[in-house]
Amino acid sequence: MCYPDGRCLPHEVALRAGSPPGHDCLHGTRCPRDASCSNGYCPAEPAPKDMVPPLFEGLIEAYPDGDGVILLYFALPQDNVTPPSEIEVEIRRATVAGGAAAAPVLITVKGLDSFRDLGLNVGTTYYYTARARDGAGLVSGFGVEVVATARAWPVVAPGVDYETQIQPVFNARCTRCHGGLGGLQLSSFANLSLGGLHGPVVVACQPEISNLAGKLGPGPPFGARMPRDGPPWLSLDEVALVRRWIADGAEQTYRPGACPP
Ligand code: HEC
Repeated sequence: MCYPDGRCLPHEVALRAGSPPGHDCLHGTRCPRDASCSNGYCPAEPAPKDMVPPLFEGLIEAYPDGDGVILLYFALPQDNVTPPSEIEVEIRRATVAGGAAAAPVLITVKGLDSFRDLGLNVGTTYYYTARARDGAGLVSGFGVEVVATARAWPVVAPGVDYETQIQPVFNARCTRCHGGLGGLQLSSFANLSLGGLHGPVVVACQPEISNLAGKLGPGPPFGARMPRDGPPWLSLDEVALVRRWIADGAEQTYRPGACPP
């Protein structure tokens, strides 16, 4: 915005200073809709009236993501007026097939593309659906109902083999980004052992403090949950396999007794 004496402020600075948003203008000029310039800006345009409900394809998938945890994910809704970060996604849950749309609202989330439903009963099957509500209160239809059964953490027996059980998971989900060109490389056991930008990614026998395990969970020690472009992230079985492999000593070939009991 510019003042009548010709001094101008960058738009963000003007906003930070609490100036109302509007077109920059010079004193004496006319603004859109015949309004007049005041203090270097035109009066803000009235918001267009929203007549179109948001575009939302609904939930994509639900799958177990922890002990009694189900993760739901979806693509952010789009709207002609309300920005995606402001559109409310209303999630409903039922324990009978076809019952989710009629169930009470479980939670409403904004600006997220996933939701972890915690504290569920292991062995129970849950059905979910969702719809989106824009700033004008217009709602999309309910998308399809997705279904998942809550699980306990998988118990993996000792003896995980790196080459046949861990490397294939990396090949399928990680080497696209961690396959060359600097940073952590997960293309082989030798490369993994070189670590990443934060140092070693495994601490033998201690999955709780290993970055590799931490980055696969919902609360990574730094940065984002992996794979970076998830959800979907790894399955509960894949994460449990990686954790077991680290707990067993993180060796290329399983060696009983590598870790203290
Ligand atoms: C779409 C690209 C992408 C994919 C796929 C991906 N990553 Fe990453 N990964 C990144 C980026 C970018 C970083 C750095 C930023 C961060 O830490 O969030 C990173 C960081 C990491 C780190 C931290 C390394 C360090 O020391 O800084 C680990 C561990 C990791 N990824 C593991 C994995 C695993 C395991 C998979 C597969 C299950 C995976 N990543 C898949 C992009 C990706």
